[in-house]
Amino acid sequence: MRMYDLIIKKRSGKALTREEIAFMIKGFTDGIIPDYQMSAMMMAVYFQGMNEEETLFLTLEMEKSGDVLDLSGIDGIKVDKHSTGGVGDKTSLALIPMVAACGVKVAKMSGRGLGHTGGTIDKLESFPGFSTEISIEQFFKNVEQNGISIMGQTKELAPADKKLYALRDVTATVDNMSLIASSIMSKKLAAGADAIVLDVKTGSGAFMKKTKDAFALAGEMVKIGKNAGKETIAVISDMDQPLGSAVGNILEVKEAIRTLRGNGPKDFETLCLTLGAHMLVAGKKAAHVEEAEKMLYDVITSGKALEKLARFIESQGGDSSYVYEPEKFDKATIIEEIKAPENGYISRINCEEIGNCSLVLGGGRQTKESRIDLTVGLVLLKKKGDYVTKGESIAVIHGNDGEKTEIAKSRFLNALTFSDVKPEEEPFIKGIVKE
Ligand code: URA
Repeated sequence: MRMYDLIIKKRSGKALTREEIAFMIKGFTDGIIPDYQMSAMMMAVYFQGMNEEETLFLTLEMEKSGDVLDLSGIDGIKVDKHSTGGVGDKTSLALIPMVAACGVKVAKMSGRGLGHTGGTIDKLESFPGFSTEISIEQFFKNVEQNGISIMGQTKELAPADKKLYALRDVTATVDNMSLIASSIMSKKLAAGADAIVLDVKTGSGAFMKKTKDAFALAGEMVKIGKNAGKETIAVISDMDQPLGSAVGNILEVKEAIRTLRGNGPKDFETLCLTLGAHMLVAGKKAAHVEEAEKMLYDVITSGKALEKLARFIESQGGDSSYVYEPEKFDKATIIEEIKAPENGYISRINCEEIGNCSLVLGGGRQTKESRIDLTVGLVLLKKKGDYVTKGESIAVIHGNDGEKTEIAKSRFLNALTFSDVKPEEEPFIKGIVKE
């Protein structure tokens, strides 16, 4: 078999067979097929697309290009959750303790933040002493005993995707539905859970800017999951403005704690209840989502979800007293209000730019090696649809460097559009995709 012939085949719109896809992925992972041939193939796929079967084969071949986690040693149905990424997305911090407090086990490998979106591990490391660098034995033990563990990605999951994603990133071939779906699902399948709940974001802070594209991506991923024998459900949620109010690591951790105490922002609580309900149903702890939502609500009001977070932090070396006394977290040295420059409704928020403000302040990573400042970020006091009067506080900025804080402030204001007309209210949850 020759890569040259496969490029011609795909270029002319024909479907590749499983053997051909296996040859291509193995050859590329092993360094036998060079980047320039794979780039040509990716561009051919970009223009000609892949059918459902090819997309599944590509996913499965990328999944088995590295380690595949075996979670069968842990009793019960293990449910994983994945977000396509967004601004202020602290969902796992509140959702996972809620779900675990209802009896569904979560064994998760997570990553750090890169670019304008944050990462769960960085947020968890806001708790002094907390570590995701634990042994696989400890990981399993924590899940058995406490129902939760999150470890850093030490095993090489789907290395073919890692290499291919880096190539797509520089050859303008990222935004193809089959390629995105297979990239995400190959990693999720390799992570070993029995069921997968996906949070597919749409809007100006999301990868999929248009709702119809988010539905199409969700549909592709759900089909792959089903064909791979894993129950997969996708929730399409709004990312046209930051989730909740807080953007920035410690600020988001505090907001997640507030939410577990029943005082969280409405949109964030809705998202946790919706995703959590599907996780409980997939984990066979509830018969339907209404029952599941009630169970989740109950673990918030009883304090069990908060307690679960505290046990989880402790089980990985962290100081759990911060869960009950969040005022102990470090604070930025500059904390200033941002005032509305004019009267009007906030009609649009460039959400990605709000994520960039946190990056400018030092809260995000420009490269994998960058150190991040956990204390900086923004708290929005007003959101889309709110009326503001000139001079009224609309956000609070947290910074440690005067110049960077001024830049972020000005970029924040430029990211907002004010209007005399109240914008139409959009549903926060846009829909659910499942088989
Ligand atoms: N996230 C991924 O993991 N892969 C893609 O292709 C796009 C977003």
